[in-house]
Amino acid sequence: MSVRHLYVHVPFCAHRCGYCDFVTVTGHDEVHAAYVDALLAELELHGPPAPETVYVGGGTPSLLADDLLARLLGKLSGAAELTVECNPETVTPEKARMLRRSGVTRISLGAQSFRPHLLETLERRARPGTVARAVEILRAEGHPNLNLDLMFGVPGQSRDDLQADIEAVLAHAPEHISWYELEAKPGTRFAVHHGAELARQAEALEDHYETVVAALRGAGYRWYETANFCRPGHESRHNLGYWLGHDYLGVGVGAVSTLGLVRRRNRPRLRSYLDALAAGAPAPADVEQLTASERGLERLMLGLRLDRPLHLNGLAALVDDAACDRLAAAGLVRREGGTMALTDRGRFLANDVVASVLR
Ligand SMILES: C[S@@+](CC[C@H](N)C(=O)[O-])C[C@H]1O[C@@H](n2cnc3c(N)ncnc32)[C@H](O)[C@@H]1O
Ligand code: SF4
Repeated sequence: MSVRHLYVHVPFCAHRCGYCDFVTVTGHDEVHAAYVDALLAELELHGPPAPETVYVGGGTPSLLADDLLARLLGKLSGAAELTVECNPETVTPEKARMLRRSGVTRISLGAQSFRPHLLETLERRARPGTVARAVEILRAEGHPNLNLDLMFGVPGQSRDDLQADIEAVLAHAPEHISWYELEAKPGTRFAVHHGAELARQAEALEDHYETVVAALRGAGYRWYETANFCRPGHESRHNLGYWLGHDYLGVGVGAVSTLGLVRRRNRPRLRSYLDALAAGAPAPADVEQLTASERGLERLMLGLRLDRPLHLNGLAALVDDAACDRLAAAGLVRREGGTMALTDRGRFLANDVVASVLR
């Protein structure tokens, strides 16, 4: 397998948070071992893995027992960047040590917020102290590269709550911070229960976003992608691969791969995934043939999320030059020598600006 980026999906969660629409399952502890076997079998079918970056995400990969997770990581440990997503309440000194010994170079912890009432609204198991304890354990075991995931736009979140979260995150001094706007996906329990409050607070969101960006930049973080901040030299190399339009392979139930113009989506049903791999067959999947222009559009939309200028080689035909000139005059876009980037102001309005520059 010659692909540079590998994503490994572990769907198990102790509880399904109301806002989440990732491919997850609760319970099913009895199939954890079979699932790791299936992942290893799927990797085997793709040939010996030698990617530069691996991201083990979920779900909750850290819910797997230490011996199972170690068995999986044993096949992935050659990567220059090996990230494992962990829920704070699952981090123990033994697990942190096992992760370090297994070649994990980066841990992503889902904090979401440090405010008890917001954690409750989000149905999180961790309390503020749980995240602090997880960071302490990981640092004590020598993990040099931590990401914390946060969210803004949580129903009931005031300006003071946001300020308190900013202070709490900075106190932990992570190398990387992902700070997402909460998306209440239609049809989720969350959208039904909190729809009215989400609509009421929608206007405050731009202000919250600007507050987060100003505070993290002020503390020395680089705002290198719409929702991502890092200390110099600590970008997520794996996620950069996605944003730069590189090919990637995804294994596991519901995982997506993009290889050239082929997009393959493993189906999200756990039982049929396990049965297929146990029988030596490939994961059940839907395959989509992309056109060069669809792939180009994706590269443009993802590339403009970054702070670095995007080279328009092969993409110029997809850009509406007249719209671009208008946006440049309005101070939202910069074009220089065959490259294009959004200005700071443009980045706050990224969805609208990007939609306007596409032909
Ligand atoms: C794959 S998810 C879950 C990782 C881990 N199980 C956890 O809950 O911490 C990775 C991150 O996506 C973000 N996320 C999940 N659902 C979201 C939503 N509806 N809107 C915005 N961000 C979301 C959360 O910050 C979460 O930590
Ligand atoms: S947010 Fe994380 S813990 Fe909650 S259901 Fe989604 S993947 Fe599982």
